[in-house]
Amino acid sequence: MLLTLEGLDGSGKTTAWEALHDARPDATFTHEPTDTWYGDAVRRSLGDDDADPLADLFLFTADHADHLSRVVRPALADGDVVISDRYTDSRYAYQAASLADSEIRRPLEYVRGIHGAFTREPDATIYLDVDPETAAARAGATDKFERVSFLAEVQSNYDRLIDAEPERFVRVDASRSPEAVIDRVEDVADRLIEAFHGDDAAVAGAGDGDGA
Ligand code: TYD
Repeated sequence: MLLTLEGLDGSGKTTAWEALHDARPDATFTHEPTDTWYGDAVRRSLGDDDADPLADLFLFTADHADHLSRVVRPALADGDVVISDRYTDSRYAYQAASLADSEIRRPLEYVRGIHGAFTREPDATIYLDVDPETAAARAGATDKFERVSFLAEVQSNYDRLIDAEPERFVRVDASRSPEAVIDRVEDVADRLIEAFHGDDAAVAGAGDGDGA
């Protein structure tokens, strides 16, 4: 099973993902951007305010392709539960936002289309929901993707993705304390993993009651 964590910068996603390590010691924990040279290239581009958004998209997508073939597909083939801190939806939400003023029409559909030919979509996604102002304040707004106006665009892309596939996403209110968010994510992850392994009833009520 492939379970992903998504959310704005500063949503507490990485903290929750780290906490899941103790709860799920047998799972394969991974993340995007990765720790390979592809991930280094991505991080270099993140620090460049003048980077071309289309070039950014293809760097992130190259990192994803490598991540899929090197980590995700082999672990899934071994029957592992794979838990990834960011994955395809980060591209759909972030790169579609950075391409909003470009020559690309319908950027979200375009970015999805690029992935469609080769990716493995997640079985379930936990979305840590926080407003862009809180996210930017927590993240420190140190790089180009952490500014409030940009994060508002990213959030609206995540909302569109969730509306399109409400059965895949579980929203968790990430405006609460880190402890409360961690508890909720652990609980939701347990329910989703149990549900995936055959107990459909377990997923009922897994969200925070706001629609996904
Ligand atoms: P990440 O290391 O997850 O940062 P954080 O822990 O602060 O959320 O991701 C770094 C930045 O890269 C973050 O601003 C989100 C962005 N990003 C994309 O724009 N597209 C992508 O496909 C991914 C994986 C990340």
